[in-house]
Amino acid sequence: MLGRSTAKLNSAVRDIRQSTGSEQLTPITCDLGSQRAIRNAAGDIARLHPHLHVLVNNAGVYTRSRSVTEDGVETQLAVNHLGPFLLTHLLLEALRAAGAARIVNVASQVEGSGRIAFDDINGEKHYDSLAAYCQTKLANVLFTYELARRLEGSDVTVNCLHPGVVATKLLNDFSGRPRAFQVVDRLRYIGPAVGAETSVFLASSSEVEGVTGRYYRSSRVAESSLASRDVGLQRRLWNLSCQLTGLTNC
Ligand SMILES: NC(=O)c1ccc[n+]([C@@H]2O[C@H](COP(=O)([O-])OP(=O)(O)OC[C@H]3O[C@@H](n4cnc5c(N)ncnc54)[C@H](OP(=O)(O)O)[C@@H]3O)[C@@H](O)[C@H]2O)c1
Repeated sequence: MLGRSTAKLNSAVRDIRQSTGSEQLTPITCDLGSQRAIRNAAGDIARLHPHLHVLVNNAGVYTRSRSVTEDGVETQLAVNHLGPFLLTHLLLEALRAAGAARIVNVASQVEGSGRIAFDDINGEKHYDSLAAYCQTKLANVLFTYELARRLEGSDVTVNCLHPGVVATKLLNDFSGRPRAFQVVDRLRYIGPAVGAETSVFLASSSEVEGVTGRYYRSSRVAESSLASRDVGLQRRLWNLSCQLTGLTNC
């Protein structure tokens, strides 16, 4: 389990140990906004799990004002897209070594409103927090499709999903309402357990064995946006992402 706060991670691990009885959980502190931290975490994971069967890229953030990470990347782009992009690459060897392995990318239905601003990817000239978020969610889908093509012939599958509208901190930040509205959201929207169902389905169900390069909603294949299916766009984003993460062999 990866998380940026050691205290939250340890508490989550304690909860999961209690409810499952499993001791097989290792908390690894990693800020996905730091490429250095991702490289360290990937090294630790690969050492602990040289055969990695499942990778779920779930973490995400919605920031209401523009900020940049220590790598000089706009925060939403760094955490929501480049972080999982880099982490996945660094773990590919362990995933391939597992025999059959699955990668699950948590995207969003807002990918349909996304546009990749190649001329201003970091929002330096103009920043709109919603557009920046939608850009990253479209990037999750483009990345999934391109990676699926590149993994053809291997036993590693990669799919992405919209989890539903889930009452979480991120939704609260997205809506821009005061924190107190989280209570109202919990009555109106699905909770995190239901929101996790499609991720768990893709990570573990025998129904999706061998299925790759698909977008899911409510544990069913769905159609993603026209833009997400543009192979030229997928390749262009891939190349830019390699450049921005300093990956030379991708
Ligand atoms: N909620 C929705 O309605 C909705 C809809 C569509 C898609 N999604 C997607 O679902 C995924 C999960 O979001 P959520 O709604 O469950 O939000 P959430 O409850 O706020 O969870 C987001 C998680 O990401 C972690 N995170 C944020 N920045 C990080 C960083 N720099 N490094 C490492 N971890 C970081 C957060 O850690 P901290 O607790 O330390 O902040 C938190 O655990 C996201 O990819 C989001 O885009 C959500």
